[in-house]
Amino acid sequence: MAHQWRGVIREYADRLPVTEATKVITLGEGGTPLVHARKLSELTGSEVYLKVEGMNPTGSFKDRGMTMAMTAAVEAGAKAVVCASTGNTSASAAAYATAAGLKCAVLVPEGKISMGKLSQAIAHGATLLQVDGNFDNCLDIARKLGEAYPVFLVNSVNPARIQGQKTGAFEVVDSLGDAPDIHVLPVGNAGNISAYWKGYKEYSAPFETANGTLPAVSTKTPIMWGFQAAGAAPFVAGHPITEPDTIATAIRIGNPASWDTAVAARDESGGLIEAVTDDEILAAHRWLSAKEGVFVEPGSAAGVAGLIKKHAAGEVPSGKTIVITVTGHGLKDPQWALRTEDGSDVQPVKVPNDVVTVAAELGLEEN
Ligand code: F0G
Repeated sequence: MAHQWRGVIREYADRLPVTEATKVITLGEGGTPLVHARKLSELTGSEVYLKVEGMNPTGSFKDRGMTMAMTAAVEAGAKAVVCASTGNTSASAAAYATAAGLKCAVLVPEGKISMGKLSQAIAHGATLLQVDGNFDNCLDIARKLGEAYPVFLVNSVNPARIQGQKTGAFEVVDSLGDAPDIHVLPVGNAGNISAYWKGYKEYSAPFETANGTLPAVSTKTPIMWGFQAAGAAPFVAGHPITEPDTIATAIRIGNPASWDTAVAARDESGGLIEAVTDDEILAAHRWLSAKEGVFVEPGSAAGVAGLIKKHAAGEVPSGKTIVITVTGHGLKDPQWALRTEDGSDVQPVKVPNDVVTVAAELGLEEN
């Protein structure tokens, strides 16, 4: 029988801090495809899958956390929410605030968020302020607003966000039948790597709920591999970076809020957090669109860039199951697709309105 996916809260209610009385704010997030990556699998000799989070309602994984955060905001009686963002969180917050009937203010670093994300926040009626500073400065202000003013903070420092985002790990296990051997993802503010690790741990052990104990779903947890942009790689440096810089604006973050939980995810899983250059990110972005058929934004390609780099170094095992979360849709930031490897822009070929010329241009001969 056809099943309409009900959003992550209703699908995983017994594993989330909600009750039957909770008024759920949802746009039907989650239930995203786990796509077999044929070419990455051929390259590595492992079975590589992409968790395509661009298929969420606002085009990124942020919706998993935002359904929880906005539900919590309504439960707390909030009238307005605020967030800092490199773009996707603001797009998601604006959409879910609209669904909840709340006011939404978003703080973004001036000139450093993509047009797609900016338009989403505006379209959903958020009050958008461009701060003369980077994401880390925006988050400082948003936190202070949340503490001292009547606005509810929906950044991932709010634990409700991590709770919602952990459902990404549940879905991977539910699709594969067990946890993968390695889970790869981009790292920015570090909420997502923390959330996935929480989800994998919870699914691999008995889980206490108000209605009794749920049995373990998976037999193991994966090794977590996180990748940062080289110009914004505080985990690689071992300390915050004051002037983070990368073309992957989504992960242009120097002082990640979820520092300790990300380090725990890395270390408890026996994993790593390493860096990839902007060129490696753009090459992975092209690989995904041209070889796998999956269009992502540059920041989302950092995990794939990391896997390709580790493979080149001979450090990717074969015969394993590897899942890479590709975090946001390519249409968020489409201009990168039009840029060729030598840096010039692709110019579409113009043709007259005539089938013979079009056929000739396509190299076709009449049957
Ligand atoms: N990928 C994309 C597309 C993102 O938008 C982000 C973060 C990340 C990866 C990194 O995830 O922060 O949990 O480590 N974007 C945030 C935002 C910061 O404001 O939209 P993380």
